[in-house]
Amino acid sequence: MAKRIPENAGINTRLTHGGNDPHDYYGFINPPVVHASTVLFPNAATMVSHAQKYTYGTRGTPTSDALAAAIDELEGSAGTIVVPSGLMAVVVPLLGFLSAGDHVLIVDSVYFPTRHFADTMLKRLGIEVEYYDPGVGAGIAALLKPNTRVVLTESPGSNTFEVQDIPAIVQAAHAGGAIVMLDNTWATPLYFRALDFGVDVVIHAATKYPAGHSDVLAGTVSANAGCWERLRDTFFAMGSCAGPDDVYQVLRGLRTMGVRLERHQQSALAIARWLETQPGVAQVLHPGLESHPDHAIWKRDFSGASGLFSVVLEGAPKAAHAFLDALGIIGIGYSWGGYESLATLVSIKDRTVARRTYAGPLVRLQIGLEEVEDLKADIAAGLEAARKSA
Ligand SMILES: Cc1ncc(COP(=O)(O)O)c(C=O)c1O
Repeated sequence: MAKRIPENAGINTRLTHGGNDPHDYYGFINPPVVHASTVLFPNAATMVSHAQKYTYGTRGTPTSDALAAAIDELEGSAGTIVVPSGLMAVVVPLLGFLSAGDHVLIVDSVYFPTRHFADTMLKRLGIEVEYYDPGVGAGIAALLKPNTRVVLTESPGSNTFEVQDIPAIVQAAHAGGAIVMLDNTWATPLYFRALDFGVDVVIHAATKYPAGHSDVLAGTVSANAGCWERLRDTFFAMGSCAGPDDVYQVLRGLRTMGVRLERHQQSALAIARWLETQPGVAQVLHPGLESHPDHAIWKRDFSGASGLFSVVLEGAPKAAHAFLDALGIIGIGYSWGGYESLATLVSIKDRTVARRTYAGPLVRLQIGLEEVEDLKADIAAGLEAARKSA
C-alpha cells in the first residue's frame, strides 16, 4: 500500500515522508543502500533498448532516486541530480550551460571556491567571466551582453551575507535571454523556495543542513522543466554521481532538517541580537536583524534564517585571532550546517567589484544545537580576549 501524503501537508510531514515509499521495499521504512555498478538485463533486446528502470550505477539507483525525489518535492523541481560535493553542485550546471564564447555573470560575494573554478577552469575553456555587485538588483540588465547565458547568484553572499533581489535579477536575466542559477545552501528550500521565484537551476551543498552532522560531502542540483534535460545529460556525461552511503546519509539527515533548522534559526538570532549589545562588536551581519542593510529584501522573500552569520570585531586582525583562540565549545574550522558550533576567520580580499569596508576583522559563526547560554559564555570569553589583545 503506497503512502498517502496530502498535497497540503506541512513541511515537517513532507520531510518525514518524502522520497521513497516503504512498500516498494518490503515495508522497511528506509530505502536500501544500493551499491552498484552493473545492473543485469533479462535479455539482449532489453539491453539494446534500455527499456528497464535502472541500467548502470552512474545513471541512478533506488537510493539516489529516493533522495532526488525527496528534494524535488521540496523544491517543486522537474528533476534533481545528486553529486559528491557542494562544489561539484556548482561546477556541473556551469559546465552544462556554458560553452566557449559565452559570458557568465557571477555575484562578487560568491563562495570562494566557485570563484576559483570560474577564474581557472571556465576562463581556460574560453568562457568570459564577469563579477557583479550583490546589490545590483534590476541593474543587472545593464551588464547583460548578447552572449550572456547564465547569471549565477548566491544569496545571502558568502561570509558577508548580502541578500540579492532575486525576482528583479530573474526578470532582467530572462528578458535578456539568460538563465538564473542560485546557490541556495544558506536558506535551504525550507526558507527560500527558489523555483517559485523564477530561478531556473538551484544548487545546494547538501554537506551542510541536509546532511547536518559534519560527516558527509554531497551536493544537489535541481532544475525547472526547461533546464532539466540539459542538466541531467551533463550529469550523465560527467559521471558525477555521489556514492550510495553518502546519499543515504543525506536522506537520513533530511528527515530531521526542519526541526534542526528551527533550532539553528532561534539560537543564531538570539546570539546575533545579543552580540549587537556587546562591547568590542562593531557590527553583526545577519539578514534577520533589522540593522542589516538588506533586511527588507530578506523579509519580503525568505520565510526564515539559518544559523550562519558574521560578526565584525573592533580592532586589528589580531583581535580575531585572540577571539578564536579563546573559544572552548565552539570549534575553529570550515564548513557549517552541522549540529556543532564553529567559528572561521573571514577574508574578503578576493572581492573585485564590491569590497565593502568594515570597521575591523570579520569572524563567521555557525551556531549549532548547543544551549544558547553556553554559547554566549564561550563567545563572551572570546570577546574579552579580543579586547585584551588591543
Ligand atoms: C555557499 C556554499 N556553497 C557551496 C559550498 C561547497 O560545499 P562542499 O563543502 O560540500 O563542497 C559551500 C561550502 O562551504 C558553501 O558555503
